[in-house]
Amino acid sequence: MNEISEKIGVIGAGAMGSGIAQVAAQQGHQVILSDTSQGALDVSRTKLKKVLARLVEKGKISPEKSDSISSNISYTLSMSDFKECAFVIEAIVERLDVKKVVFKELETIVSTETILATNTSSLSVASIAAACEHSERVIGVHFFNPAPLMPLVEIVPSVQTSKAVLQKSIELVSSWKKTTVLAKDTPGFIVNRVARPFYGEALRIYEEGIADFATIDWAMKEMGGFRMGPFELMDFIGNDINYAVTESVFTSFYFDPRYKPSFTQKRHSEAGWLGRKSGRGYYDYSEDAQPKLASQDKDLGQQILWRVLVMLINEAADALFWNIASAEDIDLAMTKGVNYPKGLLQWADDIGIDLCVEEMDRLYDLYHEDRYRCSPLLRRKKSEGSAFFS
Ligand SMILES: NC(=O)c1ccc[n+]([C@@H]2O[C@H](COP(=O)([O-])OP(=O)(O)OC[C@H]3O[C@@H](n4cnc5c(N)ncnc54)[C@H](O)[C@@H]3O)[C@@H](O)[C@H]2O)c1
Repeated sequence: MNEISEKIGVIGAGAMGSGIAQVAAQQGHQVILSDTSQGALDVSRTKLKKVLARLVEKGKISPEKSDSISSNISYTLSMSDFKECAFVIEAIVERLDVKKVVFKELETIVSTETILATNTSSLSVASIAAACEHSERVIGVHFFNPAPLMPLVEIVPSVQTSKAVLQKSIELVSSWKKTTVLAKDTPGFIVNRVARPFYGEALRIYEEGIADFATIDWAMKEMGGFRMGPFELMDFIGNDINYAVTESVFTSFYFDPRYKPSFTQKRHSEAGWLGRKSGRGYYDYSEDAQPKLASQDKDLGQQILWRVLVMLINEAADALFWNIASAEDIDLAMTKGVNYPKGLLQWADDIGIDLCVEEMDRLYDLYHEDRYRCSPLLRRKKSEGSAFFS
């Protein structure tokens, strides 16, 4: 890349924009971070100071490195400062109308060579790119929260994105020591699509009265090796946020019942029981709260894990069936993006694809709901006697 490539622009100094600015600054780039709110810029600067001080304290970076990271970032209220940036990443509010206005304006400021990336989680990259005259320079670059700590970035070219822009974006983000996976511009990309059953099937198991929150979390952690149970994780993410993502994926998939949101989560959200951030979610986070005890019935635990895991595997297989990403990238995305103990397609191979198909068919026979339809790819693999890998 040429010399202006050293300058990176980031729009939106919230949680994601600040994190992305830090990542680029740590790699030695000059970063310009913009926001329409001076307050947001001030908070971002103060937070970065604290984060860097902690890293110095822990011996992870030297005081000199901390100073250079700080001085690499400049804060501005005006996008006109992006004139010399080779790469601009937008991380503003998740609203198509607002993003479109920003992209249209951005194009009048930057050079014709500049790549324009969006960190959107749920909007179509094609619709954002359509705001630009040169839509071939627009691409999705989806970081995970917190960006400095999470290794995965989903690279999402739209139908308009040029091959050169895709290649340069992969090169740049990889040079920031991130693991990149390539995802099709479809709702939820890889992670937010494939992970849906982790929440949705757990909620359904609860709603059917099969087990309580603590028992479901216990089963997924103790027997499945997941770092957090689904209810703990939803409380951590925030029920309002997690519910909104589910609803958006459900709507975007033309109401496919596989992604149907849950009334339990909706009511928790409406009640203000958002999780850790509000002090109460599926669990009580107050100081004198009594811990919820799991039943620890091994047969029940196995049944819960098996049902959720097979639904996840089915979702991963279906993402592969629809060419959303390669098998390798689907597994990489789930292990690096949401810390799953094993890639889901590898897990299917290890368990045996025939057993996964049997469980999907058992669930379908039980409920006669489209939600439990087995992916054609899983069924094909079973009949061929083949595996996803090897
Ligand atoms: N939070 C997450 O876990 C997460 C993860 C991946 C992707 N994302 C995506 O990243 C984007 C930002 O999310 P966030 O959580 O950082 O939001 P946030 O609310 O923390 O920050 C958004 C910032 O954008 C600013 N802003 C709003 N309109 C603007 C405009 N027109 N010009 C400049 N700045 C403007 C706001 O003042 C705010 O500081 C969204 O598209 C979101 O979907 C979020």
